[in-house]
Amino acid sequence: MSEAVKPLQPSEATPEKPVSRRVFLLKLGILLNAIAAALFAVPVIGYLASPMRKFAWMSWISLGPLENFPESQTRLATYRNPYTKPWDGMTANIPCWVRREHGDNFRVFAINCTHLGCPVRWFPESELFMCPCHGGVFYSDGERASGPPPRALYQYSHKVENGQLWIKAGQLPTLGEPLA
Ligand code: FES
Repeated sequence: MSEAVKPLQPSEATPEKPVSRRVFLLKLGILLNAIAAALFAVPVIGYLASPMRKFAWMSWISLGPLENFPESQTRLATYRNPYTKPWDGMTANIPCWVRREHGDNFRVFAINCTHLGCPVRWFPESELFMCPCHGGVFYSDGERASGPPPRALYQYSHKVENGQLWIKAGQLPTLGEPLA
């Protein structure tokens, strides 16, 4: 015959253990470490994901109809930086030099001198690009002519489509990422 289970009296129940200082500090340490790890992971993940982000904003941008660029001439064109914020204002308008050799044969130059980045100017009389900062000079095809610039003007990837000239505007040409 089984005996009925007698409920424990409050005085007989297991007393709640007080959280010891040691356990509390251990849990606090784990929490702080987790927060630190999360803060450290954000920039690392951002860095690792940056190539994907780059392709999201790299886009073809029209510089205008082909009629804007007469053959054997060099014209200044401007595009809106696709990687921009509303508050960028006029600074998001990026100039570049467009040289139409003949037909659909173009060269699109970054405006920055390959020495220290000053904007080069085109002089149609001499058919030369000249840099106002240290006297760098480039031929009409962008090749270095004289002065301190170590190399030719950088060029954009470009294409002709639907009667317009397009450039890969999100990719500023550099030594690391030259013309495709
Ligand atoms: S920046 Fe152009 S020559 Fe120095």
